[in-house]
Amino acid sequence: MAQASIRNQIHLLINGVEHTIRGDEAFLPLAQYLRYHAHLPGTKVVCAEGDCGACTSLVARWNQDSWSSFQTLNSCIAPVYLFDLASVVTVEGLAMEEELSEVQIKMREFHGGQCGYCTPGMVCALSGLAESCSQKKTPITEKKARNHLTGNLCRCTGYEPILNSALHMDLKKWRPLAERYLLPAEQTKFQKLFADDISLEAPNKKAYLPKFLSEALEIKAQNPQVRIVSGATDLGVLHNKGKSFLDQVLVVNRIPDMGKMESTEKGLWVGAKVSLTEFENFAEESHPELSRLMRIFASPQIKNQGTLLGNVLNGSPIGDSIPGLLALNAEVHLLSKKGARVVPLTSFYKAYKSFDLLPEEIATGILIPHLQDSWRFKFYKVSLRKDLDISAVTFAAALRMDDDNILEARIALGGVGPTVVRLADIEKDLTGSKFSEQLFKTAGKNARKHIKPISDLRATEDYRLNVAENLFHKCFVELREEGAVCL
Ligand SMILES: Cc1cc2nc3c(=O)[nH]c(=O)nc-3n(C[C@H](O)[C@H](O)[C@H](O)COP(=O)(O)OP(=O)(O)OC[C@H]3O[C@@H](n4cnc5c(N)ncnc54)[C@H](O)[C@@H]3O)c2cc1C
Ligand code: FES
Ligand code: FES
Repeated sequence: MAQASIRNQIHLLINGVEHTIRGDEAFLPLAQYLRYHAHLPGTKVVCAEGDCGACTSLVARWNQDSWSSFQTLNSCIAPVYLFDLASVVTVEGLAMEEELSEVQIKMREFHGGQCGYCTPGMVCALSGLAESCSQKKTPITEKKARNHLTGNLCRCTGYEPILNSALHMDLKKWRPLAERYLLPAEQTKFQKLFADDISLEAPNKKAYLPKFLSEALEIKAQNPQVRIVSGATDLGVLHNKGKSFLDQVLVVNRIPDMGKMESTEKGLWVGAKVSLTEFENFAEESHPELSRLMRIFASPQIKNQGTLLGNVLNGSPIGDSIPGLLALNAEVHLLSKKGARVVPLTSFYKAYKSFDLLPEEIATGILIPHLQDSWRFKFYKVSLRKDLDISAVTFAAALRMDDDNILEARIALGGVGPTVVRLADIEKDLTGSKFSEQLFKTAGKNARKHIKPISDLRATEDYRLNVAENLFHKCFVELREEGAVCL
């Protein structure tokens, strides 16, 4: 078998121009590279935490033999090494020679900017909307426009003129980026480069980007200290804040198997590289309740780049996917040179950011069992605002019900202790009981004894205790409204 060559640089296109990047530059956040090395200062950096959208760029990726579609992401938190064989389009690449793009024309016409600092990010976010709608041949609606702007902050114009610009765009006048920037000449070259292993080095820095799982396992066995990086939406923020530097890293997202997502008899399999957006779209049929949860998760920019596995492996007590996955009895699949392990999520979280994960192990995916018809599933996220906010408390309940009986109960709460927790005692109280308001009120009261929330910037301990208790009642009310028989 022919040996894959090892490259020490990455190749990407920026506004159609090829860049070959190695050494220190490959470890920079993409926005820094765009501004200071590619001389494209239209991309702004304001928060450097993925929160404001000023750095929004559009990215399509070459995947074996085809391009993905262009999607938005926050270039301030994503390291350059994640963009091998990508086509990046910045605000400078949207206009066509002397002619502004349809998005820019409408932003100008409807006065979508004042100081202009957020405007390049807004224009890129709306270009993501135009690209997606023109590709799918669906109209731009207010709901879609609001969703695409979730990750973009404007502090002086206000959103109405920006929304108006979006709603007045004529998609017939939008020249798809795919037609402008994904050209056959690059495809042939990228196809050849696709099979290479990549190993990037700079003083005190090393990034491994293997092509095969066996190589990734070997690298992790020999260098257990290397940090696995997936979408870097958690790690990139820590890096920018100086809390954890991404200097010795292993990127598993070039391994094709990691991108698998399929519904099997056992459940929904989600590979380590599957983005939150891909998961949201795919789960709509098999796990609609989880897909709905993704609608109040982060912003399109973050969901296009971040992964479901990254959320699970980050293991934050307020990680939004975790309570639902715990209540569904999901399992994390781990692999090392020593072999495979399947760890139920219920025993994966040991303490704050401490997991049943060995230093040499890589998570390959997560299996989410299907719920049969007799199950009801509820998930609630309570945060200060609906969009792009960190949860104060999260709640998930999976209940197997038969007329007015609860045959089985699984309850998980987040934001109430050092890890997301399953409430075994409360589950016992609910199991085998008749469905009634009193039962859920008592469960809520008792739940307070099993959780230990803290007070922080987002909420006080008391508030979290009250919210946790009340969510049991909300769950009862919704189930009753959906037709559960109540005593
Ligand atoms: C602006 C913003 C908004 C956000 N909003 C939300 C939100 O609403 N809800 C929420 O829950 N989170 C939110 N997040 C957090 C983050 O986006 C998610 O946790 C995301 O799912 C992380 O995925 P990632 O691929 O980017 O992970 P990364 O940052 O790449 O990695 C996260 C952790 O997982 C580990 N890891 C990743 N893959 C593997 C693997 N295959 N094997 C072993 N370890 C692995 C990494 O080593 C790291 O410790 C937000 C983040 C930002 C910046
Ligand atoms: S600079 Fe704020 S999201 Fe990137
Ligand atoms: S135009 Fe000034 S911040 Fe939006």
